[in-house]
Order: sequence, then structure tokens, then C-alpha cells
Amino acid sequence: MSDGVSSTAEDIRLLSTEVFLDPYPTYALLRDKAPAHWDEQLNGWILTRYDDVAEALRDHETFSSRRIGLLAARGGADPSPPMRQFIRLATGWMWMLDPPEHTRVRKLMSQGFSPRDIRNLEPLVSEIVADLVDEMVAKDEFDLIPDFSYAVPALVLVTLYGLPKSDAPLITRWCDTIKVFLGGAPDLAASGGPAAESLQHMMTYLTGVIAERRAEPRDDLITRLVHAEEDGDRLADEELCSNLLLLMVATFETSIDLLGNGLLGLLSQRDQWELLKADPTTIPGAVEEVLRYDGPVQLTHRLVTRDVEIHGQRIAKGQLAYLVRGAANRDPAKFRDPDRIDIRRTETGHVGLGAGVHYCIGAGLARLEGVTALTELSRRIPDLSLATDKPHRWRADNLQFRGLATLPATSGRS
Ligand code: HEM
Repeated sequence: MSDGVSSTAEDIRLLSTEVFLDPYPTYALLRDKAPAHWDEQLNGWILTRYDDVAEALRDHETFSSRRIGLLAARGGADPSPPMRQFIRLATGWMWMLDPPEHTRVRKLMSQGFSPRDIRNLEPLVSEIVADLVDEMVAKDEFDLIPDFSYAVPALVLVTLYGLPKSDAPLITRWCDTIKVFLGGAPDLAASGGPAAESLQHMMTYLTGVIAERRAEPRDDLITRLVHAEEDGDRLADEELCSNLLLLMVATFETSIDLLGNGLLGLLSQRDQWELLKADPTTIPGAVEEVLRYDGPVQLTHRLVTRDVEIHGQRIAKGQLAYLVRGAANRDPAKFRDPDRIDIRRTETGHVGLGAGVHYCIGAGLARLEGVTALTELSRRIPDLSLATDKPHRWRADNLQFRGLATLPATSGRS
């Protein structure tokens, strides 16, 4: 392991900075040599081939989402009281449920994300993106992460949920801490405390907001969810609060990295940027392609509910399986020339937004943000370029959620 990248499957340490910085060589090794690989530190099986990942995502009976207890136990020690509270609250997230409980919660929480709702959000997202691009146009140099990729979803989040703009830094800090713990930080035990604390703060905050919206309904998504009803069924207060929290973390954390990873990929493979500029009808395809090529959510986990055999390995009932969508999306058995962005790619079926019953609720919003951002940036700053004198930096703080800390760029005018 001289250069930090493993040469054999036995050497692999997935929870390492080298892998966080560039997981793709390690994924390729696993896909090729150990497609069902046991990882001691992660206490689970790592699946990396497209067919295995896609099939497991669709088989929610064998690959259950009720995994929070196993995830929280990865740090080794017995859960602390705040961590026990974290587990209790996260157990109710739709992301951690199986049908039929999942179906019920998802139906009630989906209100606000229909295709019509997403179309209604177009003016809001366009305005947010245009204002940020105005600020960038006024400068010659900027950092695309704080100035754009972070700012777009942060503003969408507070506006969509009807929260004060001034609360955005606090909410986004809570979301960040929860994400790093869930994503598998190198020190799992140490990341649990801050995550449990943030979850508690956020629950207290949201409980207050829910009470306010009950007393004084407004025209916002939280009011809609507070009053959501399906066939006479409603969510209990704690269910609503914990799923609202999940929705907010998911709205914010993933879109940042769609924009950041996507811009890095497209500006590095410049021919693709030139192509989308010349032909804006390719932009929706470009968004799909960056979700495949370098997606924000690299993996998901499932609890295996019956003994199964995959590539000669016996995966036992009760064990954890990691479904590595980042590896599946670059499987050459599924995607031609997978390590290149090809915005005109014709193969479909990437799993960057999931598959099966947990397919991303916010897919429409994510695509809207991606398409609006690329349209506006390529039109108004066509010579947008990566800064040659300041390198970009990955956050490299967890395995699941991949994204950049900085992406210095220029308008290309000077
Ligand atoms: C580019 C941005 C996004 C990406 C890459 C992404 C990715 C994903 C993926 C991969 C899943 C499936 C998780 C699993 O199978 O365990 C998922 C589920 C989910 N996403 Fe997204 N997401 C994005 C944006 C959003 C947005 C904007 C929202 C806001 C509403 C959202 C809300 C959710 C929720 C609530 C779930 C859980 C659904 C369920 O369990 O039934 N996501 N997302």
C-alpha cells in the first residue's frame, strides 16, 4: 500500500482518507476481485457490482431498511444515553422503515413533492440561482462551494420550509453533523456525540415550528405536512417531527454535492461543458450523468433478513450489507467507458437516486436544482473555469456522502 491505494482486496480500509478522497480505484478493485467483501471496521458486507446493488435495492424483504441499531453500534461502545435517543428518533425515519409502515409514512410525507409541486417550485429555484449568479458575475474569482453549491440548497431549504433565512447557518450546521455520523466518519464513536446533540437541538426547534404552524397555518411545506392526511390517517407529532428532520437533512446535504461534484466533473472534462453550452437540450442528461459519475450518496446500508449467498460468500441473517451505488454506477458491465462523463450517454438505470421503495422522494427537486444551475451558469458565465492556481479540496470526512469543501473558479474573463 505504498501510495495509499490498496493493491489487494484484503488490504482495503474503506474508512480511510485515501478512499474518501478518491474511492473509485478501490471500488474497481472490489468489483473485480471481491464483489462480496467483508469489512471488519464497518462490520458488514460490501457489494459493488451493479447487478447485485440494483437487485438488493429492489428486494426490500431480504435487504431491510431497519438498520439504525446496527449502524449506531458500529463505534463499538454501548450507546450513550444521547445516542439511544438518536436511535429512538431515527428509527421512525421513513428511510429506516420497511413496508407497510414505510408506505404509510412515505405517502403522508410525499405531499409537496408531486410533479406539479416541483413545477411550482421552478420560479423560486430560478430566482435563488439567478441572484447567486448575479453576485458571481460581479466578481472574477469565487469559490463555487460556499458561493454557489452550498448557498443554493440552503436558500431552497429555508424558503421551501418557510423558516427564517437567519436560521440557515444553524440548521445547516445541525444537518452537517448528523450527516457525517450517518455517513461513516473514520472515528465512528467520536462523531456520535455531536450528531446526537444536533438531532436533539433540531427536534426541539422543529417541535416549536410545528406547534406554531398548527396555531397559525401559513403557505409553506411544513404547514402542508402538519395537516397532511391520507384516508383519515395522520402522522403522530413525533413521527412528523423526525421525518421532517430527515427531509430537511436530505434536501440540503445531497443537493450541495450534486452541484459541486457535477461542476468539478464538467469543468474538468471541458469538452462536456462546451457541449452543454452549445446545446442546452443536453443539460437534463448532464445532470443524470453527474449523478452516475460522481454521485453525492455513495452507498446505502441494509439489514439482511435471511441467509443469502452472493459470489460464493454466505451473508447471514442479521448482518449489515453496504450497497455501494458509487461503485455500481461505474461498473463497466453496465456502463460503457464508465470513468468518463458522457452527457449524451444512452444507457439508463444509474442508482444515484436509489431504486425500489426508497427511491428518492426529492428526485424532482434535485433535478430541478441541477438543471437550473447548469442552465444559468453556462448561459451567464460561459467561460467558467477551475482556478489553475488554487486546487479544489474534498471534505473527505465520511464514506457515504461525497463532496467538496472548496472549488475555486474564475469567470474566465481575464
Ligand atoms: C442530488 C440530490 C439527491 C440525491 C443524490 C439523493 C439521493 C437519495 C438516495 C440514493 C436515496 C435512497 C436511500 C436508500 O435507498 O436508502 C434517497 C432517499 C430519500 N431522499 Fe434523496 N437525494 C437527493 C435529493 C433529495 C432532496 C432534495 C430531498 C428532499 C425532499 C430528498 C429526500 C429524500 C428522502 C426523504 C428519502 C428517503 C425516501 C424513503 O426512504 O422512502 N432527497 N435520496
